[in-house]
Amino acid sequence: MKDFSNKTILSGINPSSSLGLHLGNYLGAVKQHVEIQYKAKKALYFIADYHSLNTVFDPEMVRSNVYNTYLDYLSFGLEPEKDNVVFFVESSIPEIAELNLILNNVVTMGELGRMHAYKDKFQSGVTEESINHGLFNYPVLMSADILIFLADIVPVGEDQSQHVEMARVIARHFNNRYGQILKEPEVSVNKETARVIGIDGERKMSKSLGNHIPVFAPEEEVRNQIFAVKTDPARIHPTDSGDPKKNVIFEYMKLLDFDSAKREDFENRYREGRVGDVEIKKAFFEFFMEYFGEMRKKYAEYAADPEKIKNMMKQNNEEAREIAKEVVKNVRKAVGLE
Ligand code: TRP
Repeated sequence: MKDFSNKTILSGINPSSSLGLHLGNYLGAVKQHVEIQYKAKKALYFIADYHSLNTVFDPEMVRSNVYNTYLDYLSFGLEPEKDNVVFFVESSIPEIAELNLILNNVVTMGELGRMHAYKDKFQSGVTEESINHGLFNYPVLMSADILIFLADIVPVGEDQSQHVEMARVIARHFNNRYGQILKEPEVSVNKETARVIGIDGERKMSKSLGNHIPVFAPEEEVRNQIFAVKTDPARIHPTDSGDPKKNVIFEYMKLLDFDSAKREDFENRYREGRVGDVEIKKAFFEFFMEYFGEMRKKYAEYAADPEKIKNMMKQNNEEAREIAKEVVKNVRKAVGLE
């Protein structure tokens, strides 16, 4: 991992799902976020609820998504009580919206039109006439998030790296016009864990596809998903030989550091037709519950104390806002609004 010891790290989480976080979220992003908090000079994380308005239209859902995602992150081990960690909610900082508005004037339609999240929309038959402006503007809002905190490094999944590039371009344009005010952030993509395959063994793990393994759901639900993992279809009886590559459980074992000798033994027996799928799944399920045991316990504790979470949110929002206000003040001066 990079040396983060004198860096400000920032990343946002779009709370677009009403359902809890799953193994793919954990391995793809959260685990890295949690590790970074011990290494960074400052680690800023936030729930990107302004961004979620692009896809979540039910206000009750917007609210509960923010709360639930915050709760999940705390349970996974984010520690906003630490001096160097701030975990806040984007919309509690209206200065972000103001910076977005100002930055609109240093980016062109052409630059934004080349962003793939926007371009990809056209492939689904949507025309420019009906495309949502929030989607077009998404990279500017994201740039405002990043630049307002003078972030050094932005760890994101592969799909978001182009947006961080946009933040760099916007910072450069701004500084060329007004002087050295904003900081060009570096993007950090964790390739290794960026993509976790779902229990269908084919597509990226995602709640909306139903191919996920939830982390904080009731035990029964976790068990059902693990037992529904698709295994080598050519293997009908436990005595048939199977290809471990066609059983994604082995992949999960690797990603979660399941004892490698035990895993290799399972793999060998799988190839030789000397183990049943149920035995493997059972072993993985038990391991999974142990691996996430402490986090599930923490989840139950936090869930029982919403006041505590709300207070934590409030404090962190205030702390983040202080930083943002300072930078926006400089920006307002630089552009001539003050
Ligand atoms: N767009 C990101 C996502 O969908 C979330 C996000 C919003 C973000 N603002 C950000 C990530 C700023 C990093 C930095 O995952």
